[in-house]
Amino acid sequence: MKLTLKPLLGIVGISLLNLSLIGCGSDDKHVTLKLAHNLDTSHSVHQGMIFMNERLKELSNGTMDIKIYPNGQLGSERDTIELLQIGSLDITKVSASPMENFVPKMKIFSIPYVFRDHDHFWTVLNGDIGKSLLIEGESVKLRGLAYYDSGARSFYTRDKPIYTPKDLEGLKIRVQKSKTSVRMVESLGGAATPISFGELYTALQQGVVDGAENNPPSFYLSKHFDVARFYTLDMHTSVPDMLLISGHTWNKLTITQQNWVQQAASLSVPYQRTLWKKSSDEALKAVEAAGVTIIKPDKSKFQDAVKDMHDSYKDTPVYSLMQEIADIK
Ligand code: GCU
Repeated sequence: MKLTLKPLLGIVGISLLNLSLIGCGSDDKHVTLKLAHNLDTSHSVHQGMIFMNERLKELSNGTMDIKIYPNGQLGSERDTIELLQIGSLDITKVSASPMENFVPKMKIFSIPYVFRDHDHFWTVLNGDIGKSLLIEGESVKLRGLAYYDSGARSFYTRDKPIYTPKDLEGLKIRVQKSKTSVRMVESLGGAATPISFGELYTALQQGVVDGAENNPPSFYLSKHFDVARFYTLDMHTSVPDMLLISGHTWNKLTITQQNWVQQAASLSVPYQRTLWKKSSDEALKAVEAAGVTIIKPDKSKFQDAVKDMHDSYKDTPVYSLMQEIADIK
């Protein structure tokens, strides 16, 4: 469905290298920041970025703006993270799952049932833990600007409805490129297959995988529901979307410019979250109206199935983080 221009990435990367950060580092020159992400333009995340661009233009009196490349035009999430690291792209928005390959602590978000509910999740993100995780990637040139809402992820399947983890046995389930997501699916009984988001529609259509897992807007806007007709709301993980700026770009900006970018990003969060809530409800209604079977399973069976996975983190740094999170009211 989606056109992935990965083969062109090398060429695009080179041209971005030349184009990126025009006039950066000086208050009296115009600065255009390049931002790439893999979601559709109707997605609340894209709308949030448009809002951020408007705020940045206002705050900087028209001296800064952002050019947005949506729909995976500049490659997968892993690709755009790497472009940030080498300084060929200024900003990206990625899921926190593939970030664990660059910032190990990010795996916390791909461990199932770490958060009690959506409110608990946002209390953690807005608190000390969320704030420190956001800038944890600074040493690898990946500075977080903000978290966007990405709701909770649930399984969807082509041919067989999932009511309990037992139903996942023998099924190939697409996950993001994250080892912890692989373990999550395996601990629930499925066989995990990492595939990038842009390639998933075809993989589902051709039966390369039997299912996948995602939040309602991505399930709907990617049209995966055309081919995966069962959606089981087990809500195993809450993985935020993250807005990241390249450390190379950040360091070339003046303090004033850094403040404008940070403010514009922070201002876009409540806007995106309001749109998110609405679009998530609408997506569920739309897929149901299109004939998808929505299943509300007994979540405790899924929670029980991942206890061994949780225990396996004992004696690792992430376990204390899990406990700290559990203690947050
Ligand atoms: C979410 C997220 C995307 C990500 C996708 C995925 O929809 O917003 O950024 O690419 O999950 O599963 O790959």
